[in-house]
Amino acid sequence: MRQRTRPGVLPGSAESLGVPRAEIARRVAECLGLVGLAGFERREPATLSGGEKQRLAIASVLAMRPSLILLDEPTTDLDPVGKGEVHAILRRLAADGLAVAVIEHETEELLDLDRILHLDAGAVRRDGPPRRLLLEVAELAAAGVEPPVAARASRWLGLAEVVREERFADEVAARGVQVERTGVRPRLATRGEAPVIEVDHLVHRYPLRDQPAVDDVSLAIRPGEFVALLGANGSGKTTLAKHLNGLLPPTSGAVRVAGHDAKKAGTAQLARHVGYVFQDPDHQIFSATVWEEMAFGPRNLGVGEDQLESRILAALEVVGLTEERDRDPFVLTKGQRQRLAVASVLATAPEILVLDEPTTGLDYNDRERMLALLADLHRRGHTVLVITHAMEVVASHCERALVMAGGKLVFDGGIPELFANDEVLARARLRAPTAWRLGRMLGLETLTPEELGAALRGGGGGNGA
Ligand SMILES: Nc1ncnc2c1ncn2[C@@H]1O[C@H](COP(=O)(O)OP(=O)(O)O)[C@@H](O)[C@H]1O
Ligand SMILES: [Mg+2]
Repeated sequence: MRQRTRPGVLPGSAESLGVPRAEIARRVAECLGLVGLAGFERREPATLSGGEKQRLAIASVLAMRPSLILLDEPTTDLDPVGKGEVHAILRRLAADGLAVAVIEHETEELLDLDRILHLDAGAVRRDGPPRRLLLEVAELAAAGVEPPVAARASRWLGLAEVVREERFADEVAARGVQVERTGVRPRLATRGEAPVIEVDHLVHRYPLRDQPAVDDVSLAIRPGEFVALLGANGSGKTTLAKHLNGLLPPTSGAVRVAGHDAKKAGTAQLARHVGYVFQDPDHQIFSATVWEEMAFGPRNLGVGEDQLESRILAALEVVGLTEERDRDPFVLTKGQRQRLAVASVLATAPEILVLDEPTTGLDYNDRERMLALLADLHRRGHTVLVITHAMEVVASHCERALVMAGGKLVFDGGIPELFANDEVLARARLRAPTAWRLGRMLGLETLTPEELGAALRGGGGGNGA
């Protein structure tokens, strides 16, 4: 049973547990310090970045001095550097004697934990040290868990456990693996066609905020491009994207989409050209059944009932939700809701798709399905702009990256150029994906694990996994 609390006192908080005020002040300062938020005592939580909010949530739990802290996917929404920071905090807490348990889909950050429990169908399938357990690459993938790239590379080298990144080049040399160098990758060529999206000196200021969320951004996207919009939490990605379908009006500057001035055209007109998938599918889904959800957009655009059914069925087929047509969207899994959000946009057949973090929080299988879907749309000629923190997605699917930092566009270019640019990566709190980092230690520019594997095997090392 919950304790009775005074008004304004959070049930379960240190104050509600009867901890004296002076002690609370001391603990607040200490716990904020532990998570790197010293000096934030007076800040309103709504003004914090995603990463700061996550760290605040951890601090508020630490303030109760638990002996165990349990975190359910604590870093899914964070930028790559933010993810690393939260895991560093957790490792420090564990070193200080706190028991820490993390529920996680992403295995990359787990390599330095003490132990992994792999759950499958409600039972513990494996239990062991990460660098051994995560080496079982094929078994993990079959069970829907993404094996870390370092684990795949370790298999190719025939190692008995997952290599430490800093040891990778030495292990390759020690095994006498001849690395096949494929030469420098071609750089991004500019295309000739007229842009479908043009952003010209765009500024967006939210009410009562000093700093513009988008600060003098200009860019052009051409038909059929597959572009990644990247940047730290709070850098202005969502704000920029919301101008592309008229959800937000420019404070100053102009946005042209498919030949329309976004400000004059309005959302209804723009919806014919741009499909926008929200960061959180639950901000978008509101109907009682999957079918109704799918029908809303096309009906609004004036699609006749005769065509409606075939359009909806085709879109549901693409995302693998045909069987769920009569179900309530809110009983679907997060991955299914995410795909429904995409499908409901597909049913309006927009030439441009803007997706805000469509793979966040998805497990390995759902993520792969989502990516296959986007790749297919791109092949069929749609222009795709995807906001993501998943650098391996950028590496395997995108042709070009736009990088935001503090509301400004700080990079616009090819993916290899971005990964080679340490200054931009640091400024935008990004991290090149593992396949690139490992490859670079060998003098390669490998974007994907497959390319890294080919380079290692091509030189006669290891065998496939
Ligand atoms: N509705 C809003 N009102 C005021 N400030 C906002 C609002 N939405 C976002 N912001 C602020 O604008 C900045 C950019 O936010 P956002 O575009 O959501 O960034 P990103 O998508 O890159 O995480 C952040 O400082 C954020 O706190
Ligand atoms: Mg966002």
